[in-house]
Amino acid sequence: MCIYLKLLRCLVLAVTLFAVSAPNGRAATDDQRDAPDEGTSTEQLDIKEIMRLTMTKGLCQRVIKKKATKEEQAELVRLFQALAELEPPIGDAENWQEQCDQLVKYSTEISQGKESYKSLKKAANCIQCHRQHRPK
Ligand code: HEC
Repeated sequence: MCIYLKLLRCLVLAVTLFAVSAPNGRAATDDQRDAPDEGTSTEQLDIKEIMRLTMTKGLCQRVIKKKATKEEQAELVRLFQALAELEPPIGDAENWQEQCDQLVKYSTEISQGKESYKSLKKAANCIQCHRQHRPK
């Protein structure tokens, strides 16, 4: 009789544990699924939108002036990477790639703790890039 009671208790414990852990398990996978969507999804962004997010809203300036958080630094890298994937409306494609690669390179270095602030500032030259790639 005693052994049955023990088994029963064991079973109850197992069911309880399962019930408690199952929702947690599900929550964890939900988090994982949501993770890539954090911040702004870069998938459907065009150059104008990236300009607004990085340049007009001051994210790039904040990073250059060492005022950005780690998250903001990472966000800038992500947006510049997305920019580099796009084609410029006008201008030489190779030159565009070079300019974008520099933005990606220096913002990445900063996010890794390097002091590439001046390099990023130089790379984020609005007028120089607009002259070549922004339609009038
Ligand atoms: C690597 C090249 C590059 C750099 C650097 C750059 N831009 Fe741009 N920007 C562009 C291109 C290309 C367009 C035109 C996009 C289009 O018309 O599709 C543009 C457009 C814009 C627009 C218009 C967006 C709209 O909604 O029409 C703004 C505002 C802008 N840039 C701000 C800035 C500022 C401010 C800086 C400097 C801090 C800067 N950009 C640096 C490439 C660049």
